[in-house]
Amino acid sequence: MKYVKLGKTGEIVSEMCMGTMMFGDRCDEAESDRILGAAMERGVNFVDTAAMYVQGRTEEILGRILKGRRRELFIATKVHKGVDRQSILESIDESLARLQIDFVDMYMIHWPRVGMQPKEIMGALNEVVTQGKARYVGCCNFPAWLYAHSNAIAECNDWPTLICNQVPYNLIERGVEVEILPQAVAEQVAITTYRPLVMGLLAGKYAVGQPLPANSRGQTDARIPAWLDKYGESIKSFAQFAADHGVHPAQLAISWVRHSPAVTAPIVGASSLIQLQATVAAFDFDLTDQEYTELSDLFDTAVKEEAGGQFPAFRRDLNLLGQALG
Ligand SMILES: NC(=O)c1ccc[n+]([C@@H]2O[C@H](COP(=O)([O-])OP(=O)(O)OC[C@H]3O[C@@H](n4cnc5c(N)ncnc54)[C@H](OP(=O)(O)O)[C@@H]3O)[C@@H](O)[C@H]2O)c1
Repeated sequence: MKYVKLGKTGEIVSEMCMGTMMFGDRCDEAESDRILGAAMERGVNFVDTAAMYVQGRTEEILGRILKGRRRELFIATKVHKGVDRQSILESIDESLARLQIDFVDMYMIHWPRVGMQPKEIMGALNEVVTQGKARYVGCCNFPAWLYAHSNAIAECNDWPTLICNQVPYNLIERGVEVEILPQAVAEQVAITTYRPLVMGLLAGKYAVGQPLPANSRGQTDARIPAWLDKYGESIKSFAQFAADHGVHPAQLAISWVRHSPAVTAPIVGASSLIQLQATVAAFDFDLTDQEYTELSDLFDTAVKEEAGGQFPAFRRDLNLLGQALG
């Protein structure tokens, strides 16, 4: 396991972040315990959860299985209620009670919402940090402009700034390459990426024209059959690429995400210990630049530069890192 800097902070975390969304959902408490234990044995010290997972049950399970392990872990959770001040302050207390800990390492806004007030949000996150209930604050699914806007407000008020943006990123969902990943490189934003396997679609068990595997998320999440329909041929070539290189497709999918210099830590989800054992190996497997390009080219999913490369949002090569922002 490699260890990486978490954005601008001095924190060092494992490159693999353990996603817990399936804890209490597709795996019971005992299996969740085994998954967390196995991940930690492989060097994982970064855990992602959220108040909304299984209506708080995931955090409750973590509260029990974290016992004796808390000190070794960097734990992130997310606001569940609204994003007004009162909801944020109530939500952190509820999460800490379920997790049975005094503070989380990072507290995140889960989704931007219509009518949200960035100043109120950043002020409430400041209170959470000042009260010692979180060490750092972050967000998920924020467009780059909103991230910068929220941090400008925080800086003007001497409040803690967001240090991490958690976004979906995989061979099919590549929209973050336009603004969010270049911003991350220029401003040292920690980027944790979710859905590296497209919810299992790139884990080698789905094939176009075949029935959806029994007891899989494809049975309940309509995006999986829809994407299988749309990208079936690419997924077939992807599986062949994995076979040709002697690696598990899940390993290949995560290695592709890891290859981006803007990505701090892919968040790996598992519904069983066996799955985790296959995916964790992705962190010991590096793609060459050529393999990365070949894999990318299997999917027609890169955001296109419709204006012949002139549209400024597509300038990914400005190399601002290290330049004074003042
Ligand atoms: N901030 C946000 O808005 C947000 C949103 C979503 C997720 N997240 C975070 O990101 C984490 C990962 O998300 P995700 O679960 O959607 O990611 P994912 O890695 O794309 O999908 C995980 C799923 O892939 C399948 N799988 C995993 N390993 C496998 C293997 N070795 N062989 C075969 N199938 C395998 C399992 O599905 P089956 O159960 O079907 O087998 C598993 O539940 C979550 O746990 C959560 O912490 C955050």
